[in-house]
Amino acid sequence: MQKDAASTDPNVLIKDDVEHVWHHLAQHSTFAAKEPLIMVEGQGLRLRDIRGREYLDATSGGVWCVNVGYGRKSIADAVHAQLLKLPYYAATAGNIPYAQFAAKLTSLMPGINRVYLSNSGSEANEKAYKMVRAIGHMKHGGKKKTIIYRHRDYHGTTIAALSSTGQQERRDWFGPFVPGFAEMPHACCYRCAFGRGYPGCDLECAAALETVIKQVGEDEVGAVIFEPITAGGGVIPPVAGYYDVIQDICRRYGVLLIMDEVVCGMGRTGKWFGYQHYGASPDMVTMAKGVASAYMPISVTATTENVFAQFLHDPGDKMAYFRDISTFGGCAAGCSAALESTRIIEEENLLDNCARMGERLLDGLKDMAGLPFVGDVRGRGLFCGIELVKDKQSREPVDESYVIKVAGAIAAQGVLVGRTNRSLPGQNNILNLAPALCVSAGEIDTILKAVKAGLEKAAQ
Ligand SMILES: Cc1ncc(COP(=O)(O)O)c(C=O)c1O
Repeated sequence: MQKDAASTDPNVLIKDDVEHVWHHLAQHSTFAAKEPLIMVEGQGLRLRDIRGREYLDATSGGVWCVNVGYGRKSIADAVHAQLLKLPYYAATAGNIPYAQFAAKLTSLMPGINRVYLSNSGSEANEKAYKMVRAIGHMKHGGKKKTIIYRHRDYHGTTIAALSSTGQQERRDWFGPFVPGFAEMPHACCYRCAFGRGYPGCDLECAAALETVIKQVGEDEVGAVIFEPITAGGGVIPPVAGYYDVIQDICRRYGVLLIMDEVVCGMGRTGKWFGYQHYGASPDMVTMAKGVASAYMPISVTATTENVFAQFLHDPGDKMAYFRDISTFGGCAAGCSAALESTRIIEEENLLDNCARMGERLLDGLKDMAGLPFVGDVRGRGLFCGIELVKDKQSREPVDESYVIKVAGAIAAQGVLVGRTNRSLPGQNNILNLAPALCVSAGEIDTILKAVKAGLEKAAQ
């Protein structure tokens, strides 16, 4: 008998899910004892699951995406109108929302002037890598194709993006990797790779870029990519001055600076982009998650006019354009959603709200420093992490299973928080919080109360 594919009975849907869905980052054998979580609807920061349970979402959709919150009818309306008018034409041609969004976006990022579209953060980074390598091919005699990335940073799920990811547990099993990538040390003060303390450390973690460039060969290194603030590797804001050192090294060695703003971009840290806190001037900026607040899949590789100009027609080489395409990159309705999400952030002063509510959140979390297992609290804007340790003196990380227990105890209070998930060996010990930019003071206080109760309960 044919199955009823459109059943709305929760028991049937859960059975269908267990039997046919393959969840991301999930061990399905646990579903024998515990039903999978199936989300049904949301409004603001509130979510409801298929069993009618309600949550306050302090993760913006699990992975820091839904910047303007759930239930924004104006975004759905903008997408609806564009789909009726023109659902698609390849980005070999332009479309009206693309032109409007590109003009708007570049107005928010002085120094950046060109917008290249694709569908995911990984793809946006791959485009940047292809641009770097094409420039190496065209302008540097086939050299300057190596790209340096930082330990603990994540740049995506595709093989080249993973090849440039400094998280061993995300890479395990998936090699062999793409050649032409090299790693530099992370920038986490709490676990300084050089055993130093800030201030007074001469920012060795940033200066290490020069060492790596020399090791690889300055003729070979074309670019370096950073998450301005490391996200999934443990919410790590580098100290002030870090990117001044990086930028100086990039200029001296003719190395392009790529900022992966897939998490930080579009307001998450209280400015439009994370790098803007540090006064950096990147050559390329990639972004995805918050671009359209995840109402539509859309990602961007944005560049300076100088990077773009490397691909302008050269009478000697008719092929000197960027020979790359993504079928769905440039989907007009994605740009309509991005334009409307950006308009909401401006109209509702959400950058300002993010900075103020972020401070309230970070201060409240820092007040929990005396609780058992709380080792370090860090963040910027609505983007915070709590590092849990077995012993505050030795800073030995708790096991990942303990973090799962704490996150579960917080969820039992009705609040969803995130955590490092199979990222760094022995160091998946960080809870993360990233509520939508429209969060209220009352909601921040509810989140703080639940986090405190969860930490206390798990420690019993
Ligand atoms: C900093 C960063 N870059 C890139 C990516 C990859 O984005 P996507 O999953 O959309 O491919 C992610 C995803 O979590 C990310 O956190």
